[in-house]
Amino acid sequence: MMVKRKIIIDCDPGIDDALVIALALHSPQLEILGITTVAGNKELEKTSANAIRTLEYFGRTDIAVYVGAGKPLVRDLNVPQESSHGKDGLGDAGLPGPKRQAKPNALGFMKDALKKYPGEVTILATGPLTNIALLLQDVDSSAIRELFIMNGAFKVRGNVTEFAEYNAFIDPEAARIVYSSGIPTKVVGLDVTNNVAVTREEFVMMKQIDTPQAHFFTMTHDWATTRKQKERYAIFWDPLALMWMLVPTMIHGQMGKIEVEAVGEKTGQTTFSSGPGSVYVGETVNAAQFFDHLHKFLKFGEVV
Ligand code: BDR
Ligand code: CA
Repeated sequence: MMVKRKIIIDCDPGIDDALVIALALHSPQLEILGITTVAGNKELEKTSANAIRTLEYFGRTDIAVYVGAGKPLVRDLNVPQESSHGKDGLGDAGLPGPKRQAKPNALGFMKDALKKYPGEVTILATGPLTNIALLLQDVDSSAIRELFIMNGAFKVRGNVTEFAEYNAFIDPEAARIVYSSGIPTKVVGLDVTNNVAVTREEFVMMKQIDTPQAHFFTMTHDWATTRKQKERYAIFWDPLALMWMLVPTMIHGQMGKIEVEAVGEKTGQTTFSSGPGSVYVGETVNAAQFFDHLHKFLKFGEVV
């Protein structure tokens, strides 16, 4: 029997974070130990509620949500008024809930999980890295098996400023701590995610798929794909980090080190230098393979 990978999903839903949860729930490769939330796309109350709303939509109330950091390590949280995530953070799709409450103390939950399964737990972090940086104040990096994160823009422009990607911009101090921790880390930045995009036409086709999971995806992503007058919409930021874990050959890159700018106009800029190091930065992605998997999920609820 396949040994399932034990994971904690640390996230700030966020439409794409919600899709990560939805996909992860359907993967036989994963044992989800819990979900921890962080302030990022929206304030903590909303990101926590959205994690629960997603679980409730799929009837998975067996998985608990733990509330994490309400603001970045040393900065104030400045959430943009206008974003792809809508006002509620789930694309203003009118999803019900939440009926349940999140549990307190994400850090306590993570520490307990790492103590129970030393060296076995993978953390998938799809928001600002605040919770992980706080965790590293108390636990040795060797306690964590591996990190998969969506963070940074390396050879491409940022999406908040010319220099910075959103998660790195919101908490650059936390990103620095995580990147220098020595934990084996796979990083999906905009360099990868920019290359996986749908047209509005393709999206409208997906709206025809009549399954609960396709409805969830299209309802939450409808606003994002409509609001910009762009040809293609690269909206699969966080799901690419998850899919890399599930299908290791989908993304290729290089090993090395990452530095993060934390002052001035380049705040949040991530600079990669290849060579010895603990981070592996994604550079190329097989987009067709990603869409094959997405379609299997939307049509049949199957995830690799
Ligand atoms: C990242 O920022 C957020 O808006 C998304 O959820 C993703 O984690 C993309 O830059
Ligand atoms: Ca996110």
